[in-house]
Amino acid sequence: MLKKILKIALIVLGSIVLILGAFYAFIHFQVENRISKTYEGIPEESFPIAQDSAAIAQGAHLTIIKGCQDCHGKNLAGQVFIDDPGLGRVVSANLTKGKGGIGSSYTDQDWIRALRHGINQENKPLLIMPSYETAMLTQQDLGAIIAYCKSIPAVDNELPDHALKPLARILTYFDQLPMLAVEKIDHSMKAPESISKEATADYGEYLAVSCVGCHKENLKGGAPVVPGSPQVADITSTGNVSKWTEEQFIRTLRTGQTPEGKQLQNEFMPWQMTQHYTEEELVALYLYLKDKP
Ligand code: HEC
Ligand code: HEC
Repeated sequence: MLKKILKIALIVLGSIVLILGAFYAFIHFQVENRISKTYEGIPEESFPIAQDSAAIAQGAHLTIIKGCQDCHGKNLAGQVFIDDPGLGRVVSANLTKGKGGIGSSYTDQDWIRALRHGINQENKPLLIMPSYETAMLTQQDLGAIIAYCKSIPAVDNELPDHALKPLARILTYFDQLPMLAVEKIDHSMKAPESISKEATADYGEYLAVSCVGCHKENLKGGAPVVPGSPQVADITSTGNVSKWTEEQFIRTLRTGQTPEGKQLQNEFMPWQMTQHYTEEELVALYLYLKDKP
């Protein structure tokens, strides 16, 4: 009798292992297909990229407030960005003209394709690179970023390839990791030439594209960005922001200290990035967020 029960238990256990194995094989295959897909026929966009000092200065500011320097390093020479026993390795590219950098072979069209469409020179998806945010930039701002990237000193930094582990593929499959920006972008969207940069809610809406990746499309927050990080706050009229004054909002984004006395942690809410927004940019964000339904 005991032998029989043991036998049945072993068969059940074996079947579960087999089913799980088959399911993972399916996920692996699916995600691998998406990662290695070639994107052909993406419409070309061309606009003049002014290499003047005003554009370069604006580009430098944008590479700070859009987080390029957080992921690609202060000198934009790239780094091993994720190195985790479960997730594996994700590497951010060396954007300079040095050894191992893309700068020397990238044409203006390549820059535009990467930042607007999330694909590399071979038309393959860029991993983790949040191109759905840069896709929304005006031609003037995108041009300024490109002008700045082209102007920075060459740094030799040859980096290893990505090496994804099963957990990264599983989280990508269940849409729990922002792996493939290319799939989230409307590739036929026409970007405006420029936007008037004033302390208005309209300008705030344009800037808030940088908050959507974590605070969700409606900016009402919710589930953690990655498993294990805190719940994301509601930053619309139904959250705390609407109760804060303009000064309190600015202080929060500059120091990470909320009026309720909470210290935000930079690794989850990147206030060390938002502290570099100009006063005008922060006021614009405040005006947009506090009244957002
Ligand atoms: C969340 C981290 C993150 C941020 C923020 C980020 N990048 Fe990236 N970026 C990456 C990673 C990772 C890659 C490598 C993608 C790949 O090779 O699959 C990458 C790739 C690129 C590439 C393509 C390189 C190639 O191999 O063709 C360009 C260009 C680029 N980033 C520019 C920028 C600029 C400019 C900004 C700021 C506006 C920026 N990135 C912000 C993570 C980031
Ligand atoms: C990398 C993810 C990420 C990005 C990008 C991000 N946030 Fe946050 N933010 C968070 C998380 C997570 C919290 C909640 C942190 C906590 O409770 O400890 C938060 C909290 C906040 C708070 C505090 C809210 C409260 O009620 O205390 C404000 C204000 C805020 N974010 C504004 C912004 C704005 C504005 C932007 C865009 C310019 C932005 N965040 C971009 C993740 C992010």
